[in-house]
Amino acid sequence: MAERKQWKWAADPSLNKMEFTKLEKDGLDVIEAIVNIYSKEGFASIESSDMDRFKWAGVYQQRPKDGHFMMRVRIPGGILNSEQARVLANIAEDYGRDLVDVTTRQAVQFHWLTVESLADIFDRLASAGLSSFEACGDCPRQIMGNPLAGIDPHEVLDTRPIVAELEKFFLLNRDFSNLPRKYKISVSANIHNAAHAQINDLAFTPAKKAMAGEEVIGFHVWVGGGLSAKPYLAKQLDVFVRPEEVVKVAAGVTTLFRDFGYRQKRTHARLKFLVADWGPEKFKEQLMELVGELEPGGIDLTSGWNGGYFYGIHEQRQAGLYYAGLSVPVGRMNAGELNELARLADEYGDGTIGTCNTQNVLIRNIPEAKVAAFRNEPMIVKRFKLQPNTFVGYAVSCTGTEYCNLAIVETKERMRSLAHYLDDTVVLETPLRIHMIGCPNSCGQRQIADIGLQGALVKTSNGMVEAFDIYVGGTLEEPQFNRKLNARITVDRLGPFLAQLITLYKADRQEGEPYWRYVERVGLSHIQAQVDAILQPA
Ligand code: HEM
Ligand code: SF4
Repeated sequence: MAERKQWKWAADPSLNKMEFTKLEKDGLDVIEAIVNIYSKEGFASIESSDMDRFKWAGVYQQRPKDGHFMMRVRIPGGILNSEQARVLANIAEDYGRDLVDVTTRQAVQFHWLTVESLADIFDRLASAGLSSFEACGDCPRQIMGNPLAGIDPHEVLDTRPIVAELEKFFLLNRDFSNLPRKYKISVSANIHNAAHAQINDLAFTPAKKAMAGEEVIGFHVWVGGGLSAKPYLAKQLDVFVRPEEVVKVAAGVTTLFRDFGYRQKRTHARLKFLVADWGPEKFKEQLMELVGELEPGGIDLTSGWNGGYFYGIHEQRQAGLYYAGLSVPVGRMNAGELNELARLADEYGDGTIGTCNTQNVLIRNIPEAKVAAFRNEPMIVKRFKLQPNTFVGYAVSCTGTEYCNLAIVETKERMRSLAHYLDDTVVLETPLRIHMIGCPNSCGQRQIADIGLQGALVKTSNGMVEAFDIYVGGTLEEPQFNRKLNARITVDRLGPFLAQLITLYKADRQEGEPYWRYVERVGLSHIQAQVDAILQPA
């Protein structure tokens, strides 16, 4: 076990219970216990306080709690290579009942793992340069990025080295393994906000500034975003950060969170609450006390929001090369499909694969001469489509009751079938993003969806029935979270209800008007009136 840190908050008697667990033994120490003890002696040998620490190894008990685990693997910046993809596929095949999920933060998730398998899985991941460590827990998690970094015509600099440096700095760094709560970083120089800056604890977005007569490309810094039951949009600090300063600034922000973040209530522990209390000015001052003077903000280079979608074949920054944005419905695939993606990446591209925060994937660096054959690959024609139907293509879902202990309702399979139903029922040729979540934690990022569906239960004469609350008008284009309608729809009526709601939008919208903008124009009360009419008993 590594030497224990003496944290200044250790003496505070009002800390929440989890804080005492973390002080007693660092979360990262569980890795050694898993490898040396639990994976050999089995589930029954796991000490209950260590069960909480399993998250630092990237592992969580899945539902029902019968000895199986889910594991999240970090894919820094959402870029991996075919070799890594094959290792992931083999793990899913050997230990994870053939299931691979791409997550809303570009990570990869397994289910059905047993504790006996974990040591071998850690080894296999390490041999491929991958890690599940700190993918869950109160620490710096998977770093979100631009899956097109290095090849993106819409990026102002290649963020791959920066993401790699951040990953190297934070991963297994015991200065930052005991934060008040989870901590999410996003780095992207894509001008269309590919990495959802405003919903991360710390985000870097592209900016430029004239300095000493020269134009410097760098970043603006956002802090305090996050979803869950009390969502906050991140606030921009008035600073300009050069690429070589990113790690220093990230270390500074994380230190502020570590030392000043709230540790009394877990529901009030995310960085967003500290930022909301301090405000960006004070936060900036405190940051500069730690890291030294920073330049005031420059010119923002972000222009709009692509939603994290990249469907189709597109030109890269490099002439003659193309990338292919593919649809993976609700992010779920099997090992064979992941292996096939690896083959396609090798055969047509340069072997690299991108994971998108929309739970989709992309293949990079396809020479022009190979594009036509790529389009005709059976996997591309039938499964991971370049141009999916609207609703399947823009559906995102969390894990739900299938594996998640906190879920109130089933989500993933339901979102998939709902999207198919809508594609069969409503013809809509423009994107409409629907996100489904099984509880208020919002792993499926309900708040930024055009239409957000949040699971709930309703009492009926037949007992408790699964239902969804409906939220409309979320976007990061002109950042705003969607707002709740007064409509809790039982699952049997959800498809027809949404089909009617969307048909009304289709009839009323102006040319090219996305759903969120339409909601803003017509107003929530107008939509509520339509909903009331739909729900009126015939
Ligand atoms: C076993 C239970 C859970 C499962 C299967 C699950 C699944 C997920 C997944 C797949 C993601 C994307 C993560 C990534 O790639 O980094 C995620 C993110 C998230 N999870 Fe969970 N989660 C679980 C428990 C929780 C809990 C306990 C909370 C809060 C108390 C929570 C709140 C969130 C939030 C707020 C996000 C991020 C959404 C965003 O800001 O982008 N989840 N979760
Ligand atoms: S949103 Fe709730 S139900 Fe869905 S995966 Fe997250 S914690 Fe589970």
